[in-house]
Amino acid sequence: MNNLSILGIFVADLAFFGKIPKVGETILGKEFVVGPGGKGSNQSVAAGKAGASVEFITKIGKDDYGKMALKTYKETNVGTKNVFESDEYSTGVAAILLDKETGQNAISVVPGAAGALTIKDIDNARDTITNSSIFLTQLEVPIDVVSHALKIAKENNVTTILNPAPAAKLEKEMFPLVDYFTPNETEASFYIDGEINTVDDAKKYAQSILDLGVKNVLITLGEKGAYFFNQDQSHFEPALDITNQVVDTSGAGDAFNGALATALCEGRPIVEAIKFANCFAGISTTRIGTANSMPTRAEIDKMM
Ligand SMILES: Nc1ncnc2c1ncn2[C@@H]1O[C@H](COP(=O)(O)OP(=O)(O)O)[C@@H](O)[C@H]1O
Ligand SMILES: [Mg+2]
Repeated sequence: MNNLSILGIFVADLAFFGKIPKVGETILGKEFVVGPGGKGSNQSVAAGKAGASVEFITKIGKDDYGKMALKTYKETNVGTKNVFESDEYSTGVAAILLDKETGQNAISVVPGAAGALTIKDIDNARDTITNSSIFLTQLEVPIDVVSHALKIAKENNVTTILNPAPAAKLEKEMFPLVDYFTPNETEASFYIDGEINTVDDAKKYAQSILDLGVKNVLITLGEKGAYFFNQDQSHFEPALDITNQVVDTSGAGDAFNGALATALCEGRPIVEAIKFANCFAGISTTRIGTANSMPTRAEIDKMM
C-alpha cells in the first residue's frame, strides 16, 4: 500500500504586480497572473509530480476556478475522487499584491468552498485515508475537520504528517495524533517560548516541540535547510547551494512537504526522505510560482 492522501484547500491565486496601494488609494497595476494555489493543493501537485499515488481531499465551487483546479490535477497526476463540489460556495481565492521592486507583499485568502469542508466530508473520504500509508495535512482547513481526519488516520495505523501552516493554537489532544510535525522557522517559534531562526536555535528548541507530544519534529529553515529530531535521532540537512539561481521561494515549504510525504510513502528511511524533499524544494525555488514551480521526478532522480 503506497498511497498518499492529502487534505487541504485549493484557492485561485490572483497575483497583482506593481506598487502596493495604501488604504483608500487606487493605483494602476503593472501585471496580473492567475494560477493554482492553496497549501494542500500545492503539496498535492508536488506529490503528483514527485511520483506519488496521491488523492487530494478538498472542496471547490462549480465555477471557472474550480475547473482550473481539476485541470491542474489532471495534468499533475493528482487523484480527484475526494475533490467535492459545493452547491453553496464558490471556489476559494487569494488576492496577492506584490511589489517586485521591494519584494513586499500583502495577501488576503478567502477559502470559500474549502473553508466549508465538514466532518461529514471527511467521513466520505474515509476509505481514501484508511487505504493510505501516509496522510498529510496543514491548518488552512477548519481545525475540527483536520483533527477528525488525523484521528481516522491514526486509528487505522496511517502515518501522519502535520504541516502546521498557518500556525494556530491546537488542543493538546491533537499533538499525539501527529507522527511528523513540519513547521518552518516562524511556525516553529509559535509553538515554543522562544524564537527559531538558525540551525542552533532549531537544535536548542527541538526537544520543547517534541514535548508537545508529536513523534518527530522536522523544522524547515528556508535557505539554511532542514533540521530533524526525535527521541533517538537527529539530522541536519543543509539546503542546496543555489543562491544565484533562486528566483521565487514561495511554495518551497509545500514542495518540501509534498516530496517528503512521497518519499516516506515509498518506504524510504527518514534521512533519505529529507534529502529527497530538500532537493525537490530547492529546485522549486529556481522557478517562479507555487504549484507551477514544482520539478518532476525525473529531474530529482537525475540530480540525486
Ligand atoms: N533559498 C533556498 N535555497 C535552497 N533551498 C531552499 C531555499 N529556500 C527554501 N529552500 C528549501 O525549501 C524548504 C522549505 O523552505 P521554507 O522557507 O523553510 O518553507 P516555507 O515556504 O514554508 O517558509 C527548505 O527546507 C529547503 O529545503
Ligand atoms: Mg520560508
